[in-house]
Amino acid sequence: MGFPQGFLWGGATAANQYEGGYNEGGRGLATSDVITDGNMNTPRRITIKLKDGTLTSINRFEELPDGAVGYLDPDTYYPSHVATDFYHHYEEDIKLFAEMGFNSFRMSISWTRIFPRGDEEQPNEEGLAFYDKVFDTCLSYNIEPIVTICHFDVPKFLADEMDGWSDRRVVDYYVNYCDAIFKRYKNKVKYWMTFNEINLLNGYTTLGCRKTDDQTRYQALHHMFVASAQAVQLGHVINPDFEIGMMVAYILSYPETCNPADQQEDIDAARNLKHFFCDVQCRGYYPSYKLAEFERKGIVIKKEPYDDEILFNGTVDYIGFSYYNSGVSTSRKDAETTDGNVARVVKSKYLKESEWGWPIDPMGLRIAMNQLWDRYQLPLMVVENGLGAKDTVEADGSINDDYRIDYLADHIAEMKKSIELDGVELWGYTPWGCIDLVSAGTGEMTKRYGMIYVDMDDKGNGNLKRSKKKSFDWYKKVILSNGEDLSK
Ligand code: BG6
Repeated sequence: MGFPQGFLWGGATAANQYEGGYNEGGRGLATSDVITDGNMNTPRRITIKLKDGTLTSINRFEELPDGAVGYLDPDTYYPSHVATDFYHHYEEDIKLFAEMGFNSFRMSISWTRIFPRGDEEQPNEEGLAFYDKVFDTCLSYNIEPIVTICHFDVPKFLADEMDGWSDRRVVDYYVNYCDAIFKRYKNKVKYWMTFNEINLLNGYTTLGCRKTDDQTRYQALHHMFVASAQAVQLGHVINPDFEIGMMVAYILSYPETCNPADQQEDIDAARNLKHFFCDVQCRGYYPSYKLAEFERKGIVIKKEPYDDEILFNGTVDYIGFSYYNSGVSTSRKDAETTDGNVARVVKSKYLKESEWGWPIDPMGLRIAMNQLWDRYQLPLMVVENGLGAKDTVEADGSINDDYRIDYLADHIAEMKKSIELDGVELWGYTPWGCIDLVSAGTGEMTKRYGMIYVDMDDKGNGNLKRSKKKSFDWYKKVILSNGEDLSK
């Protein structure tokens, strides 16, 4: 049986880490444009201007002081500004994707390229025209674009002037943005996702909110849920063939032991980290455990009278999810932790870790797929998966990334099992950073995911030249065999 005919094979990227051209084509600034570079030991920072005009910077997960705004310091290096320059390389890059055999390509639209401040009524034609060219190029190679509408950025104007998603008005601005791109690309794009990793958003960079407390975060998320549900309904009116999905970071976790306390810990973690978001977006209402938590913690969500109806009528068509690593749930307080996608996780004695400390767990992907399928019976897409690793360019220019091939092969094998043995409906696989791009977590270029290498270092030095890694030909063979031939 294996992968179905027409299975979507491709790769995934996001504008804030790949596109660049930050001040071209009438584009406005996004919150992601004021985040510095960093590395494993030096976390990324946001440059800010305080109410009294003082310039400073804070850790990107910290709260902004009252009245502070994001600030672009001309003497600071910001990786999003050029990133790996899809803006000027899209033709070359899409051609390489086609050569690998992609029949799909996940990317995000930069909101501020379409609405530079975020609150305009009319879109920026130059921005729309750019994505026309991108989609036309994809379609000329029979590559289906899969578009994330908002991936880790918020118009800086909306963040600074309105405190981002905590302000109800942003729902309307987002829906207006969706209206513009849905109408413009209704015959070019079929697959959409409303927000990237909605379960990981917090603070200034991804919600545009100064504060990071639960009350602010959940109110902002409520606005996003409503905005997403409105977008789903609107999209289906504009083109009933649209498939509009949610996108969740699937942080799989296992209870450490059969101690009931570990089991409860695992249930709580799963609800908190992922189920809540999927429950609202797939079932269309707030789950009882979250309402109980809100009550317990005194969190009050301000809703408009018709919000519940919007949520109920705007459930998603499919679930896109990222899967990189798993973690462990334990009631022990002294458990050793390691890094994982955004959040640190408790270490597993059964799993090896990547150079960045992320546990590698291919079997976990099948488990994740089964959990999602059993809970929602909605089609799935693995829209991110991959190994962030250091690559070495040999004297002859070759890059022998066998470690990446091993990682991808093992995960694809598990996806295949979930289709064959579990009957899960899986639409596609777009591994992360199919071409090297900036790491969201650390801001580095050294942490590479691509099958295509880009000559650029952590400080933005390099000629941006593209070259094929060993995994390029390997993935090409995988796609050509529709996932049957995973051999090296
Ligand atoms: C996901 C994000 O969390 O993981 C991507 O959707 C991100 O934007 C990816 O790049 C990998 O994480 P990192 O920190 O290695 O770039």
